[in-house]
Amino acid sequence: MSRRDAEDLEAAPDLIAEGARVLSGADIEGARFEAKIILAHILATKPSRVVINADPLAPDSISRFRELVSKRASRVPLQYVIGTHDFMGLMLACRPGVFVPRPETEVLVETVLGSLRPGRDRPTVADVGCGSGAIAVAIAHHLPGAAVHAVDISADAVRLTAENARRLGLAQSVRVYEGHLLDPLLAAGVADELDAIVANLPYIPSGEIDGLAPEISKHEPREALDGGPDGLMYFRKLVSQIEALPPRRRLVALEVGLGQARQVARLLQSGLECSAIEMRRDHGGIERIVLGFIDSQSH
Ligand SMILES: C[S@@+](CC[C@H](N)C(=O)[O-])C[C@H]1O[C@@H](n2cnc3c(N)ncnc32)[C@H](O)[C@@H]1O
Repeated sequence: MSRRDAEDLEAAPDLIAEGARVLSGADIEGARFEAKIILAHILATKPSRVVINADPLAPDSISRFRELVSKRASRVPLQYVIGTHDFMGLMLACRPGVFVPRPETEVLVETVLGSLRPGRDRPTVADVGCGSGAIAVAIAHHLPGAAVHAVDISADAVRLTAENARRLGLAQSVRVYEGHLLDPLLAAGVADELDAIVANLPYIPSGEIDGLAPEISKHEPREALDGGPDGLMYFRKLVSQIEALPPRRRLVALEVGLGQARQVARLLQSGLECSAIEMRRDHGGIERIVLGFIDSQSH
């Protein structure tokens, strides 16, 4: 180590406080916590293990930290900055061009797992609009024996889902397809066998996207957000595809936007003659998940 490097190490500032100042100056809530996450990422440790100024930091780490903090300060989502996201305890790779999984989608997966377990140990499940593969890999991980078919219209999303499934040792259980809604599964001849169709499709009304936080409106792919004029475009399209499938006992589980649950429930009821419709709230109390139970007499 050169004398200059040694001086730099000794002069290592309180980086977390510095990062927090930069991030709060960019109006980022939880700035200190995010600065800690970024530092933990650089040091390849957990945020709880980052001890301020306990060890001198190498100059490379300091400049990398400053670079990532400034990227985050330009409102790039934290998950794109550090390249990962913890979804139900599974560490997923995340990158620009693919939607960042959200905590409310964990409620969707937990609900599906709870509804599938009794009686359907080895179900065939579709994840429609798979993004990073969060839903597909979490179902495959928690329901060993399930065959999961993940579809996305975006080639980047398809690649990332396949990569996440491979990294988590789930490549045997998750097959990935590029295409529109159920089209690739119809072409592959697996759509008829689906016991569950799970989807977190775009549901934001087109006119509302520009008013969202810059992390979303400027950095996440529009095709992952835009649900058409009223936000319900993809629900209508998916329901009409499911309607054309042969009758089978089946679960349809959809994540929906604020104020959409009742309309989506009506779509399921009128299109699919469900024997039961249920809704679940997310941790913020919003009706977020709509479940349609189809028995073998109807669709
Ligand atoms: C809100 S994101 C959800 C991603 C992932 N399921 C999750 O929960 O993190 C919606 C996803 O649907 C995909 N998508 C949009 N239109 C689609 C279509 N017509 N067919 C299949 N996927 C589509 C987008 O590319 C995006 O990855």
